[in-house]
Amino acid sequence: MNKCLICNNNFNPFVDFGNMPIANAFSTKKELENEYFFSMKVGFCENCNMVQLLEQPDREKMFHDNYAFFSSTSNYMISHFQKFANSVTKLQSLDQKSFVVEIGSNDGIMLQNFVSDKIPCLGIEPSKNVADVARKKGIEVITDFFDESLAARISKNYQKADAILSANVMCHIPYMHSIYEGVKTLLNNEGVFIFEDPYLGEVIEKTSFDQIYDEHVFLFSALSISYIANMHDLELIHVEHQITHGGSMRFTIAHKGAKNISQDVIDLIKREKEIGLDKNHAYLNFTDSVNKIKNDLIELLKNLKKNGKKVVAYGATSKSTTVTNYFGITPDLVECIYDTTPIKQNKYSPGAHIPVLPYDQFRDSNPDYVLLFAWNHSEEIMKKEIDFMGDQRHWITYIPNVKVI
Ligand code: SAH
Ligand code: TYD
Repeated sequence: MNKCLICNNNFNPFVDFGNMPIANAFSTKKELENEYFFSMKVGFCENCNMVQLLEQPDREKMFHDNYAFFSSTSNYMISHFQKFANSVTKLQSLDQKSFVVEIGSNDGIMLQNFVSDKIPCLGIEPSKNVADVARKKGIEVITDFFDESLAARISKNYQKADAILSANVMCHIPYMHSIYEGVKTLLNNEGVFIFEDPYLGEVIEKTSFDQIYDEHVFLFSALSISYIANMHDLELIHVEHQITHGGSMRFTIAHKGAKNISQDVIDLIKREKEIGLDKNHAYLNFTDSVNKIKNDLIELLKNLKKNGKKVVAYGATSKSTTVTNYFGITPDLVECIYDTTPIKQNKYSPGAHIPVLPYDQFRDSNPDYVLLFAWNHSEEIMKKEIDFMGDQRHWITYIPNVKVI
């Protein structure tokens, strides 16, 4: 039995992925000698409806001076965060007296928009290398982990926030009560806390099991978010579906009673109950669906190898660490991974040790099949490669099921 990180209830895992490395630990040969693994199991708490990892590595093992994920590697995401920032400016009527805080600001992909509109803002980003990229864009960043005590310090040294924002960060943080207490302290009376993360409903619906890796300690639903907000005298007032990261939800939270709860929240909670996200049995078929993808993909890769086809992968994503390690995909089946991120290049993928090569070499490699690990960017990537792929080369995707395109 395990204790829920939110409500302390006992719960059991519904899927066991076995031993997993740090998803973003793209390493040199030497670094692989001391590779770290943890046991990755996922469970569902029937009391508060939170889906969560049973064990998560220490945060310093994941977020540090050499963090490998840089937000601005996708043009689509740059424009997504510009629209996100503009919507907040409009919603909160932000101006030069306002104050915006972003938790997990990475390379400044969101805050750069407030800086160019001269709206005062502050980033909180523990991974120093990505924070330094944001600083070069003129963004003020505190290199630290956001929590209750940092929120109190910011509130004292700056001012209370009109908006606290966060994208793809909340689901990384196990000490959620400290975050919500911090938000409560830092948010002004009319302020909003808006964050988005991969959405549980879609992970279950699409079997996008690769959203589960060391950093993603939680998968959120409107049910679980309203539960935790309520514990801290806060309230979920709005939800908005996003297509990013294979299907995300943007949640808006305010002080209890400060704002109206929109019909969208009521509708989403109703839908989540209809599809059974609040019941154990919704999760029981998940492992079978994952294993079907595993068997189909491995069979396909083995056949391609037997027939002498050259298979490479595209996008050294964190998600692919779950795929390669759980499925047992080694360089024998997939020769290498091409990626645009310099810090990942000429290194080896975590656990599976597939070489990661600079994207510049992708076309010269002349592949027959390309396994799309960055499937969440498929539209952007397939458009970019349409001429190169032509009729002779094929994409392989595997969410929600294995497909050759
Ligand atoms: N918001 C960006 C980055 C997401 S990656 C985007 O959507 O693209 C997750 C980021 O959260 C990393 O940069 C990591 O260093 C940061 N992070 C992890 N724990 C944090 C915490 N407690 N407080 C603030 N940032 C955190
Ligand atoms: P992403 O799917 O955003 O993240 P996660 O690590 O959360 O699973 O990562 C995209 C990766 O794909 C990143 O390493 C950059 C790479 N990439 C390319 O190489 N080329 C591209 O055109 C795009 C959009 C991404």
